[in-house]
Amino acid sequence: PGQPVPGVFLHKILILLQVTLSVVVGKTLMILFPNAMKRYILKMGEKSRMNRNPKFSYENWGPTFFSFKYLQFVLKVKWKRLEDEAYEGHPAPNTPVVTLGGEVCHVLDFMKDNRPLILNFGSYFSSIADFLIIYIEEAHAVDGWAFKNNIVIKNHRSLEDRKAAAQLLQKNHPLCPVVLDTMENLSSSKYAALPERLYMLQGGKVLYKGGVGPWNYHPQEIRAILEKLE
Ligand SMILES: *[C@@H]1O[C@H](CO)[C@@H](O)[C@H](O)[C@H]1NC(C)=O
Repeated sequence: PGQPVPGVFLHKILILLQVTLSVVVGKTLMILFPNAMKRYILKMGEKSRMNRNPKFSYENWGPTFFSFKYLQFVLKVKWKRLEDEAYEGHPAPNTPVVTLGGEVCHVLDFMKDNRPLILNFGSYFSSIADFLIIYIEEAHAVDGWAFKNNIVIKNHRSLEDRKAAAQLLQKNHPLCPVVLDTMENLSSSKYAALPERLYMLQGGKVLYKGGVGPWNYHPQEIRAILEKLE
């Protein structure tokens, strides 16, 4: 890929305009028609796992939509997506990651022969495939687009901060290894993984590229592919 710089700059400006416009419209509608907007946002929430947690009511996350922090975060996600280098059928970016023990390795080191490897980029969450959680930057840091009543984690200023956040996840005993994106955030960038995303790699190539979370993060799509492979 790799576009000429003026193209990227223009693209970023267009994204800025588009995001700003959608936030202004969203905020206005939220003020004018609070109930209709609540229904709309809840409907969007149904597509994610956001409203499956009974302790995490709409009041904790719904009203944070269309805030300034929301704008900043959505802008960052969309700008970062311009650095995407992962395409289905193409070689998988072999970006660096760090184990919780502090050892630097690469995503493809986790591939075993021809077994599919599922990359789960993001935060919380096997038989014929291997799984790897890659802990990337916080989607809902307390000093960013924060949700109420959520775990308190600040934007990571250092790899130590990121490790501390991943250790909270590790405490919930995920059924697969957890590694950290480096502070250059290369894994997150090259896989356009913010805020959360699923991939399946096989034989060094990208076999499946999931949609952008939370709305289009669908583990059942991975299950469907694995069932076919079985
Ligand atoms: C990577 O993400 C962290 C937030 O977790 C941020 O502080 C840092 O500046 C980012 N690094 C780069 C190179 O953008």
